[in-house]
Amino acid sequence: MTLLEIKDLCVDYTVGADSLRAVDQVSISVAAGEAVGIAGESGCGKTTLGLAVPGLLPANATPTGSVQLLGEEMIGRSEDDLNELRWTKVSFIFQGAMNALNPVHRIDRQILEPIRTHEPNTASTAAKERVSQLLELVGVSPSRARSFPHEFSGGMRQRVMIAMALACRPSLLIADEPTTALDVISQSQILSLLGDLQREQQLGLLLISHDLAAIRRTCDRVVVMYAGVVVETGPTAVILGRGTEQRTAAHPYTQALIKAHPDLAGERVLAQALPGHPPDLSIPIKGCRFYDRCSVRESICHEVAPTLRPVAGTAHLAACHLVGGDVT
Ligand SMILES: Nc1ncnc2c1ncn2[C@@H]1O[C@H](COP(=O)(O)OP(=O)(O)OP(=O)(O)O)[C@@H](O)[C@H]1O
Ligand SMILES: [Mg+2]
Repeated sequence: MTLLEIKDLCVDYTVGADSLRAVDQVSISVAAGEAVGIAGESGCGKTTLGLAVPGLLPANATPTGSVQLLGEEMIGRSEDDLNELRWTKVSFIFQGAMNALNPVHRIDRQILEPIRTHEPNTASTAAKERVSQLLELVGVSPSRARSFPHEFSGGMRQRVMIAMALACRPSLLIADEPTTALDVISQSQILSLLGDLQREQQLGLLLISHDLAAIRRTCDRVVVMYAGVVVETGPTAVILGRGTEQRTAAHPYTQALIKAHPDLAGERVLAQALPGHPPDLSIPIKGCRFYDRCSVRESICHEVAPTLRPVAGTAHLAACHLVGGDVT
């Protein structure tokens, strides 16, 4: 069964008299046990998309479309219903979450909290035993269970956040930039941990990151967003390359994003910054959203918004008039 099925999701933010569409007609699916990465530069709507799944959008956001988790519609659901599904079916690791642990509570108490809330019938000894198992699972010695967050490094705090997120055995974990604030060694360890957990626990993973290397390493599929829309999606190995597989990113934006990232393992080439800025989402855009920054644009790109269409086979799609044949 498809674990997560997002169809034609739009999210509008209202600020005073203005409104902007941060996510526009996005459709994404995640199968049970699959890892899907959401990539794209700052402000493209990654967090907004992720927050829409467990119904955690701020009050000034209006989502429309459909988000089905294990066959249940999440959009328009009551807060009580959503609370039942959070932690137990879907957990969310917030951007910058490792600083969100309560500084005055020991970590075992913080991991126990979702178990006590969502499984009130679990005996205290069994719940404590689960906390030890969870800490072991994420590579923290259970002997540290009585520590306070300030006694841990950033990497260890992020491990505790992952343990908390897994406390009620969710089917889907959404991790929003889980490694961004960490040093490179901790980044690598946390990515390995997420990858191992995802494989061993058959966990669905939605990894939100602007770090293409993190997505390449951890995810089966990648979804590239630009200014609120999906511009390219497909197997990570195909789009970003992996091992001996050559990358075949098709969309000019994905290609520019790849060029902007230094690749320590690949050939020695200078990273090339992508000039310009994404468009202002509060102003309606007629044609391709990448038009102003695109180096291969044609006149049609200014007039007609491209839709996703197959690049090769049905798994690799790109929204570019110049991809997949002649200009349409
Ligand atoms: N609460 C809010 N009210 C109004 N606009 C918002 C709000 N949150 C986000 N936005 C806007 O929505 C757009 C998408 O923001 P979002 O945080 O989803 O992007 P992101 O891809 O996660 O960026 P980053 O990589 O910086 O985390 C941006 O234009 C942002 O300014
Ligand atoms: Mg974000």
